[in-house]
Amino acid sequence: MSSSGILKSSIAKKYAMALTGLFLCLFLVGHLLGNLQLFIPGEEGQTAFNEYALFMTTFPAVKVLSYLTYASVLFHLVDGVVLTMQNHKARPVRYAVEKGSANSGWSSRNMAVLGTIVLVFIVTHMQNFWWKMHFSDMPTQVVDGVALKDLHTVVLDYFNPAVNSMAAAAVALYVLGMAALGFHLWHGFASGFQSLGVRHETYTRWIEMVGKAFAVVVPLAFASIPLYLFMTQG
Ligand code: HEM
Repeated sequence: MSSSGILKSSIAKKYAMALTGLFLCLFLVGHLLGNLQLFIPGEEGQTAFNEYALFMTTFPAVKVLSYLTYASVLFHLVDGVVLTMQNHKARPVRYAVEKGSANSGWSSRNMAVLGTIVLVFIVTHMQNFWWKMHFSDMPTQVVDGVALKDLHTVVLDYFNPAVNSMAAAAVALYVLGMAALGFHLWHGFASGFQSLGVRHETYTRWIEMVGKAFAVVVPLAFASIPLYLFMTQG
C-alpha cells in the first residue's frame, strides 16, 4: 500500500476505534445504572435486580444493543491491536528527544497495556455472571408465581467471603480492573472525540473536563459495588 493509503486506512481505523469506544462509554452508563440496584437492600432489591436482568436478556431492542456491545468490544480490541502494531512499525525507535511526560500523558502512552487489563477483567467478568446467566443452571426467585433467574444471589454470593473463599481476590480483580478502566478512559474519552474531528476552542476544553470526570466517577462507582458487597456480607 502507498504511504497515503496506509495513512487513510489508519485514519479510518482511528475513526472506528473512536465510534466503538464512545458507544462502549454509553454501555458503561447503562450497565452502571442497572448495577446500582445491587445497593437496594433485602427482597425489594433482589426482585428489582432480577426483573431488570430478565428484561435485559429478553427484550428484543435491548438484545440488539447487547449484540452491538459484543461487536464493539471485539472490534475495539482488534482495531486497537492493529493500530498499536502499525504505530510501532511506523516508528520502531522512540524519538531521541522523547521524554515520556514531556510529549504525552502516562495514560495515553499506556493505552494498549491498560486496554489489555480491562480485557482480562471483561473476560473473567463475563465468565462469572454472563455465562452463568445464559448457559448454566441458576438458582431461582419466585415472584407472583413466576420463577425468575436469581442473578442477584449469584452476584451477592460471588462477593460474599462467607460463601466464596476467593471473594477477596475477586474484589481485588474488580478494583484493579476499574483502576485500569479509569486510566484508559482518562485519555480515551476526549481522544475519541478528537478522532471524530470534534475540535473547537471552547468545546474541546469541556469535552476534556467531562472525559476526566467520567474517567473518575464511573470506575469508582463500579468498584464501590463489590467493595460494598464484600464489606457488608459474611
Ligand atoms: C463492578 C461492577 C459490575 C457488576 C456487579 C457487573 C455485573 C454484571 C452482570 C450481573 C452481568 C450479567 C448480565 C446478563 O447477562 O444479563 C454483566 C454483564 C456484562 N458486563 Fe458487567 N458488571 C460490572 C462491571 C462491568 C464493567 C466495568 C464492564 C466493562 C468494562 C462490564 C462489562 C459487561 C459486559 C460486556 C456484559 C455483557 C452484557 C450483555 O450481555 O449485554 N461490567 N455484568
